[in-house]
Amino acid sequence: MSNYDVIVIGAGPGGYVAAIRCAQLGLKTAVVEGRETLGGTCLNVGCIPSKALLHATHSLHEAQHNFPAMGLKGKAPSVDWKQMLTYKDDVIGQNTGGIEFLFKKNKIDWLKGWGKLSGKGEVTVGKDVHQAKNIIIASGSEPSALKGVTVDEKIVVTSTGALALNKIPKKMVVIGAGVIGLELGSVYARLGAEVTVVEFLDAITPGMDKDVQRGLKRMLEKQGLKFVMGAAVQGVETSKSKAKVTYQVKKTEAIETLDADCVLVATGRRPFVDGLGFGDLGGEMTDRGQIKTNDHWATNLPGVYAIGDVITGPMLAHKAEDEGMAVAEVIAGKAGHVNYNVIPGVIYTHPEVASVGLTEVEAKADGRKVKVGKFSFMGNGRAKAVFAGEGFVKIIADKETDRILGAHIIGPAAGDLIHEICVAMEFGASAQDVALTCHAHPTYSEAVREAALACGDGAIHA
Ligand code: FAD
Ligand code: NAI
Repeated sequence: MSNYDVIVIGAGPGGYVAAIRCAQLGLKTAVVEGRETLGGTCLNVGCIPSKALLHATHSLHEAQHNFPAMGLKGKAPSVDWKQMLTYKDDVIGQNTGGIEFLFKKNKIDWLKGWGKLSGKGEVTVGKDVHQAKNIIIASGSEPSALKGVTVDEKIVVTSTGALALNKIPKKMVVIGAGVIGLELGSVYARLGAEVTVVEFLDAITPGMDKDVQRGLKRMLEKQGLKFVMGAAVQGVETSKSKAKVTYQVKKTEAIETLDADCVLVATGRRPFVDGLGFGDLGGEMTDRGQIKTNDHWATNLPGVYAIGDVITGPMLAHKAEDEGMAVAEVIAGKAGHVNYNVIPGVIYTHPEVASVGLTEVEAKADGRKVKVGKFSFMGNGRAKAVFAGEGFVKIIADKETDRILGAHIIGPAAGDLIHEICVAMEFGASAQDVALTCHAHPTYSEAVREAALACGDGAIHA
C-alpha cells in the first residue's frame, strides 16, 4: 500500500501532462497505465504513428509528382512497406520513451497495470491497493462499434489495425469521411490503393466550414480518393481475404455493395470506462457515456476528477493536455482554466486543414453580423513555389467590432498557421490587428495577413 497526493489513471496526453504538472506543483504523484508503453492512444496508435505514415507517404507523393517538374530526375522511390512500419514504430518508441524519461525526471511513479476505483481515495492495481487524496481519470477513448460490422483488425480494421496492416491493400473501403478516414485513406491512396470513402452525411468532415468541406473533397478526389456520399453502411461480410461492404443510398434507398481487401471503420470514438469501477461507486455519466464533470473537472465522487476523451468536448490530444494542466492547478489550489472557444482542430491531409472558433454558418446562426476575409494561396508566392497554390485562408470577424470570431484554412502548413489566429483570439484581437502586423516575406503566413486585410479595405495580392 502506498499513499499519494494524486493518482492519475491513464498515461495518454491528458494523464501524463496532468501528472507532470502535479509533480511540478509539488504533489506526490503516480500514474496507472495498463499498456506496455506510456503516451496513450495518441503516441501509440493515434496522432504520432498516423503522422509518421502521412509524412512518409507524402514524401513519396512529392517524389512521384513534383520532383520531375523541379528538375529532380531519376526513378521515383519504391515502397518497402516493412521498413515504413519500422520507421513508424521507431517514431512511436522515441516518443513513448520520452514520456518515461519525463516521469523519472519528475519523480512520478508508474503503477503498471489496469487501475480500478475500489473505494474512497483508493485505486487497486492488480493485488495492490493505493491511497490518494485526489484521483484523476484520464482513461481516454476507443473506436465506436458499427452495427453489422465485426472488426478483426486484419481485413476489417479500426485505425489501430490500419496503422499496422500486413500489406498494402489493392482496394480499401473507408467507412466515415471524418478525420481518421481522410488521414488514413490518404495514406493508402498515396501508396497506390484504390480508396473509396463511404459517408453517411452529404458533406465530409462534419461541423467544418462549408468552403473547407467542398475544397478538401475536391482536392482529395484529385489525389484519387473516391467518395460515396449520403450512404449508410449496413454491414460488412468477409470471406478469406476479401470483404463486401453493403450500404444504402439514402436518397434512392437503393442497396449497393463495394468489394475490398481491407475495410477501415472510422465512424467515431467513444469514451473508455471498462473495468474502471467509476459507475459501481455511484459515478455519474452523461447520456453519451462520458464521465460527467463540473467546470473544474470534478466528478460527483469526492476527490475524483476526469479529463480528456473520457469527458465531453472534442476528442483531441491538445484539449486533453490543456485539461491535464488545468486540473493539476485546480488540485494544487490554483486557478486552472481552459478556453474551449479557442481549441484548434487540424486534419493532416495534403493540403492540411485547420480551423478555430466559429464557422461562418455558426456565427450567423448565433445571430451575429459577420464579415468574411478570404485569401487564396494562389496569391502567395511561397505556396506557388512548392506546388501548394490550392486552398485559402478564411477569417470570420464581427462586422461591428472587427473582433476575430474564427478562422478556417486549407493549404500548406495550415496546422501551424492557425496558431497566429489562436493567439489573436486569446487576446481578443481584431482582424485589423493581424492585418497591421508585419509578416515576413515569403512565408505562408502572409496569406493569413492577406485574409485579415480582406476583412477591411482589401487584400493586396488578390
Ligand atoms: P488516451 O490517449 O486514450 O489515453 C488513455 C490511456 O488510459 C490509455 O493508454 C489506456 O491504456 C489507459 N487506461 C484506460 N483505462 C485504464 C485503466 N483502468 N487503468 C490503467 N490505464 C488505463 N488528436 C489530435 O489532437 N491530433 C491528432 O493528430 C490525432 N490523431 C489521431 C489519430 C488516430 C488514428 C486516433 C485514433 C486518434 C487521434 N487523435 C488525435 C485523438 C487523440 O489520440 C486523443 O484525443 C487523445 O489521445 C486523448 O487523450 P487522453 O489522455 O484523453 O486518452
Ligand atoms: P469522426 O467523428 O471525425 O467521423 C466519423 C464519420 O463517420 C462522420 O463523418 C460520420 O458521419 C460517419 N459515419 C458514422 N456512421 C456511419 C455509417 N454507418 N456509414 C457511413 N458513415 C458513417 O470520427 P473518426 O474519424 O473516427 O475520428 C474519431 C476522433 O478521433 C475524432 O473525433 C477526432 O477528434 C480524433 N482524431 C483527430 C485527428 C486529428 O486531430 N488530426 C486525427 C484522427 C482522429
